[in-house]
Amino acid sequence: MSIALIIPDRKLDDLCQQLQHALPDTRIEIWPELNEPADVEFAVVWKQPFGCLNGLVNLKAIQCFGAGVDAILADPTLPDLPVSRIVDPALTEAMVRYLDGVVSYYRLQLDVFSRQQQQALWRPKSPRKLRQLTILGLGELGSAAARHFTQRGYQVSGWARSAKSLPGVQCFAGDEQLSPAVAAADVIICLLPLTPATDNRLGQHFFQLLKPGAIFINVARGAIVDETALLLALQHGPLAAACLDVFRQEPLPADSPLWQQPALLITPHVSAVTNVSSVVSQIAENYRRSQQGLNLINPVNRVKGY
Ligand code: NDP
Ligand code: OXD
Repeated sequence: MSIALIIPDRKLDDLCQQLQHALPDTRIEIWPELNEPADVEFAVVWKQPFGCLNGLVNLKAIQCFGAGVDAILADPTLPDLPVSRIVDPALTEAMVRYLDGVVSYYRLQLDVFSRQQQQALWRPKSPRKLRQLTILGLGELGSAAARHFTQRGYQVSGWARSAKSLPGVQCFAGDEQLSPAVAAADVIICLLPLTPATDNRLGQHFFQLLKPGAIFINVARGAIVDETALLLALQHGPLAAACLDVFRQEPLPADSPLWQQPALLITPHVSAVTNVSSVVSQIAENYRRSQQGLNLINPVNRVKGY
């Protein structure tokens, strides 16, 4: 019996050691150096090459090493097995802190001052009046962000697939309510999963729903946003600024026109990175559950895609 860590292009010593400590009687192996593929019963996966799970004939469950499972579910040859994902208070807190920082950056007009600095311009401005904030996606991360910004005194709206009731948050649901959800927003934050329904969902039509001067933040997945439509919305309105942490192609290619857009703040997919120490216990727990035939914690609904 063994666990395979299938996380290409990443140093895995720490994860391997900590998981071994939590499961001393189980062999932990790093793909593609698997001693005996038929021994692998549990795989911890992130951006796996398509098809690589197929040779693991005794696999019982797949544990995503992050919160978003789009890259796993995109594999057309994925075995029909339970998939679970990371839900972690430390990851949620990191995301909320990142968003708080970005919203403060815009409130204080630091984007404007940064551009003025490049031209040696001394032009004081008072903070932007950012009052209304809409969060697209009210799951683990979106609902935590909604709670945080409500507590900070913002008027918060949220949009999800199903109807929700969150204290102090005006909740909207379904495609027909996207327009009222975002119409009055000063800041729109995307925390949707990437699924067939959200792929390229935020395009020209979406940006036309926003009010002039709105600010858009995407910390979910790049493919949810039509990057050309975003650039047009920055060049010709209604957007005043945008912050992207995620991109259709990562790393963002050096020749992408996004790099050249002065009203765009780019961060390299760092808003909330999985922390090994805080997630190792849920991975070990899911391994034990898979061995006992129990339901996994933080399961993914493979039909919904998240
Ligand atoms: P959840 O699965 O907990 O929540 C997803 C939310 O999106 C739910 O409220 C869901 O609605 C809503 N939703 C899904 N599909 C639609 C749709 N078609 N229309 C409207 N609403 C929809 O996800 P998390 O909050 O844990 O994470 C969100 C995403 O953030 C992840 O999928 C991942 O891609 C990204 N992420 C990015 C990170 C980064 O570093 N940049 C770090 C971690 C996550 P309902 O509640 O009705 O089901
Ligand atoms: C995640 C991510 O989904 O890091 O966890 O993007």
